Amino acid sequence: MSTEREKQIAAEAAARMVDDSMTVGLGTGSTVAYLLPALAARALDIRCAATSPRTEEAARALGLEVEPFVDIDRFDLAIDGADQIAPDGWLVKGGGAAHTREKIVAAAADRFVVIADSTKPVRALRPPVPLELLAFGLRATVRHLGRLGTVTFRDVPRSPDGGVIADYTGPVDDPAALAAALAATPGVVAHGLFPAEMVATVFVGRGEQVDRTDLVH
Ligand code: 5RP
Repeated sequence: MSTEREKQIAAEAAARMVDDSMTVGLGTGSTVAYLLPALAARALDIRCAATSPRTEEAARALGLEVEPFVDIDRFDLAIDGADQIAPDGWLVKGGGAAHTREKIVAAAADRFVVIADSTKPVRALRPPVPLELLAFGLRATVRHLGRLGTVTFRDVPRSPDGGVIADYTGPVDDPAALAAALAATPGVVAHGLFPAEMVATVFVGRGEQVDRTDLVH
């Protein structure tokens, strides 16, 4: 079964969690691209905010009401993809370079729901871990990060917030310790390690069925 079909059925399962009057955070990526039509087809009365300009544009084109994430202070649900899902629920995100906004939206959600195909669950998280870095002091930040591991720049445009997109490519032996060390480095705007405590539910498409895991915190 194709991973595209797995993404689609995982996304459709998550879309069914949305009810009328909810505020919904929309993630970014090829799996979320299946979520948007599934959500639009339900014709619910919902308010959405998007984690990237491309999601915002795609959602609006489908008739979803997307507001700037300025006046909304919380979401009932946020739904997003992931690059890697560890058995304990830790994630690596940011393959699409949207991890800064994605993390803010996930943290503002009562329930953060992850949608993925069967290639995303891994036995242990591994590099690369996406980074967004402030352009100010960039070389000094990278030198500072060198104590943890190597950093490579991605050949992509800056984030919508002006950040430089890079990847940490050193070891990921202890995700919590690495997340703390990355977050404590001045100049790091955000990193792509998302703690399990942030995650409520994971839908993984496997063949023609969807595995649902609800994390208990
Ligand atoms: C974007 C992300 C995506 O959610 C992640 O890269 C998964 O993408 P896809 O659904 O295309 O596999 O974090 O920054």
